[in-house]
Amino acid sequence: MSATFSVFRRVMNSSTQNGVVDKGVDFANYFCTYGFLYHQKEMLCDRVRMDAYYNSIFKNKHHFEGKVVLDVGTGSGILAIWSAQAGARKVYAVEATKMAEHAAELVKSNELQHVVEVIEGTMEDITLPEKVDVIISEWMGYFLLRESMLDSVLCARDRWLKPNGVMYPSHARMWLAPIKSTLVDQKMNDFEGSMDDWYCFIDDTKNYYGVDMSALTKPFTHEQKKYYLQTSIWNNLHPNQVIGTPVIIKEIDCLTTTVDDISNVRASVSSSITEENARLAGIAGWFDVHFRGSSENPAQNEIELNTGPNEDSGTHWGQQVFLLHPPPRVQRGDDLKFNFSMIRSKENHRLMEVDLDIEIKQSSGKFLPQVRNKFFIE
Ligand SMILES: C[S@@+](CC[C@H](N)C(=O)[O-])C[C@H]1O[C@@H](n2cnc3c(N)ncnc32)[C@H](O)[C@@H]1O
Repeated sequence: MSATFSVFRRVMNSSTQNGVVDKGVDFANYFCTYGFLYHQKEMLCDRVRMDAYYNSIFKNKHHFEGKVVLDVGTGSGILAIWSAQAGARKVYAVEATKMAEHAAELVKSNELQHVVEVIEGTMEDITLPEKVDVIISEWMGYFLLRESMLDSVLCARDRWLKPNGVMYPSHARMWLAPIKSTLVDQKMNDFEGSMDDWYCFIDDTKNYYGVDMSALTKPFTHEQKKYYLQTSIWNNLHPNQVIGTPVIIKEIDCLTTTVDDISNVRASVSSSITEENARLAGIAGWFDVHFRGSSENPAQNEIELNTGPNEDSGTHWGQQVFLLHPPPRVQRGDDLKFNFSMIRSKENHRLMEVDLDIEIKQSSGKFLPQVRNKFFIE
């Protein structure tokens, strides 16, 4: 299977008004993409993702044998099918989109219909006939929390997980690291090209049509800056692009975390530059998740799914890159202090807004002026 991915986990804008999610708009913007087999196939072709879930199940069969499992967002049904193959007594496979029909077909063609029951509906709306021993789900979006699907898993946990039940995955972490990249020049060139084009357009419109459009230069600049310079970029980085120590900014225990806990991620952390004389083009963010079971009911074999920069095996999540314009020059031994905050966009709870303040303390002890940055994960 191919290890290259197109970027498809897109979410369109404006599904939230005054903090209330419009279900119809959310369905049209978010769920609709998951209704295509093409998109499900992209996830099924992600070897790192597939191997991690496969191993987490089949190397920990004691969690599945004779147990009741709930698969939140079953998509094609793959995790539900594996759970049944690992010996589950019953698997409830819940899927919001019409993909549920394909999942049911797949369950039947793999002769598991006596174990796996596919339920079409949203996790928040459906009812199960019993509580479950295991909740399995692949809920992670870009930089872990984009898409906000973990909310649905937590809703399932609070309603349906037995007191000693286990979560698959059980833990998650978010990471940041300083990087070098020529993307910073590309994006600035794109922005400048777009502004040059705008000024030509102003001249042409005035000369040919007699209307001066220059009053719109400020909002146009704002719009283009947001698009080219402030929107985080999907990238599969090479490990040698990481020029400082990666740091953890958030740790999540899926058994105990709450929606409040994940809606506002804040961290003050430090990283040291490890490369001689480099340009700090930006900060990269990624995540890992672990399958550890729980303290009462631990995994026999702990499995990790890591989406950090990796030479051989990228994932479809890649990393999110927050570019710094202009990129400051840094030296080995410089200390970076990050003040990081990530909240959900007011217009769409599945998209994120990031404030990232960076302070550089040079090895001489001198501080460079703090840089404040605003980014959008769209
Ligand atoms: C990232 S895909 C994973 C699909 C499949 N479990 C896999 O691992 O290949 C997430 C799936 O969850 C579904 N989903 C997201 N939120 C849901 C909810 N609240 N209720 C039911 N399904 C949901 C989406 O439609 C999508 O098919």
